[in-house]
Amino acid sequence: MHPYRGRVTEPPKTAEPAPAPGPAQGPAPGTPAAESPPRTPAAVRRRATLAGTAVSVLLILAIVFGSRLLRDFDSALLPYAVATVFLAFGVAYRYTVWISAPGARRLFKQGRRSFFSAANFRKAPTALPKMTATYLGFQKFLGARSHARWAAHQLVFWGCLLAAAITFPLTWGWFTFTSSTGSGPGYEMRIWGFKIIEFDALSVLGWLMFHGLDIAAVLVIAGAAYFLWRRMRDRGAVTGQRFAYDLVPLIALVVVSVTGLLLTFSSIFLHGGGYEFLAILHMVSVVFTLIYIPFGKFFHIVQRPAAVGMQLFKYTSRRKDGEALACRRCHEPIDTAPYVENLRGTMRDLDLGFDEWAEYCPRCKRVLRGNAYLDHVKKGF
Ligand code: HEM
Repeated sequence: MHPYRGRVTEPPKTAEPAPAPGPAQGPAPGTPAAESPPRTPAAVRRRATLAGTAVSVLLILAIVFGSRLLRDFDSALLPYAVATVFLAFGVAYRYTVWISAPGARRLFKQGRRSFFSAANFRKAPTALPKMTATYLGFQKFLGARSHARWAAHQLVFWGCLLAAAITFPLTWGWFTFTSSTGSGPGYEMRIWGFKIIEFDALSVLGWLMFHGLDIAAVLVIAGAAYFLWRRMRDRGAVTGQRFAYDLVPLIALVVVSVTGLLLTFSSIFLHGGGYEFLAILHMVSVVFTLIYIPFGKFFHIVQRPAAVGMQLFKYTSRRKDGEALACRRCHEPIDTAPYVENLRGTMRDLDLGFDEWAEYCPRCKRVLRGNAYLDHVKKGF
């Protein structure tokens, strides 16, 4: 007899769960996208276009005024600046579509309520900064999958953040580096025209200032190379992965970083040999990657911050209620009652028709499903 046969105490009234009708919150990173996503309603598309246009116009205004009416704007960087405007449009458009889906809307609303709750702040003033650091900054939850994946993700994450912190303000003309002699070594850095620091290009600080992007590229290459290597040899990953969704983002990160490093290599070791060709290659790869961000796996970069509010909601309801809801079958704790109720609400919104299954722990769900299969599909197996 199957070890779990006959041990089901309370089988759910509903049938075995059917697959969810398309990704309400977009596929999680590492999960292939659904085959044919449902068509977005016209009203949502209109709202999303409006949001995209508003954010792009705001960014253009921020570029014009931040660069002191384009006086500090470097026209050689125009393609990058234009790509960031498209990026702003794409992110706002997709985000609006995303939070218009029932599941994501509920998550977003509950998250926002917890995020801005004065009561939560009074009860646990350090919870929000702590969660932002551990969940968003250090992604501690990834360590449970594997330490290597966590470390690789940290390299990619900090490398990209560093690169974005340097390049975005530069392409917008917000930062300027000027030397009174015209060629250094004394430089001053200005933000929006205001002098921030003076430094010597030959000092350690000067080296870090001018090689920040090389450091970022090394971090990103190390992390993305590990993920690529894993995707070549891990059978679980190889089975489910798709080229455009899983491999293109990693290849894009490697191409951007390698062509960026080659620019430094060309200017230091080749006296600028091949620089122009490399600069075009680098620009094309960066522009493609920026425009791709809202439409593929990279979208989780903008999706994930919304989950901090939800983490806070789980944390505060755990503190408030103390006890976790017990699994209906094995009586092991699942999560807090408000959290499970929120999940059930989402399932009801999506017309999934099996929301009572949320009251079973993942293990019991698998057991019940296996038993239903044995009973109804493969009798006598
Ligand atoms: C600059 C920001 C970020 C970048 C550039 C980035 C990049 C990436 C890339 C390239 C992958 C794909 C790895 C692969 O599939 O082989 C990935 C996976 C993932 N990311 Fe991010 N990410 C960022 C921020 C975040 C944040 C803030 C979170 C969560 C708080 C997060 C959570 C995840 C998760 C859960 C995975 C799946 C990891 C795995 O399968 O091992 N990411 N990220």
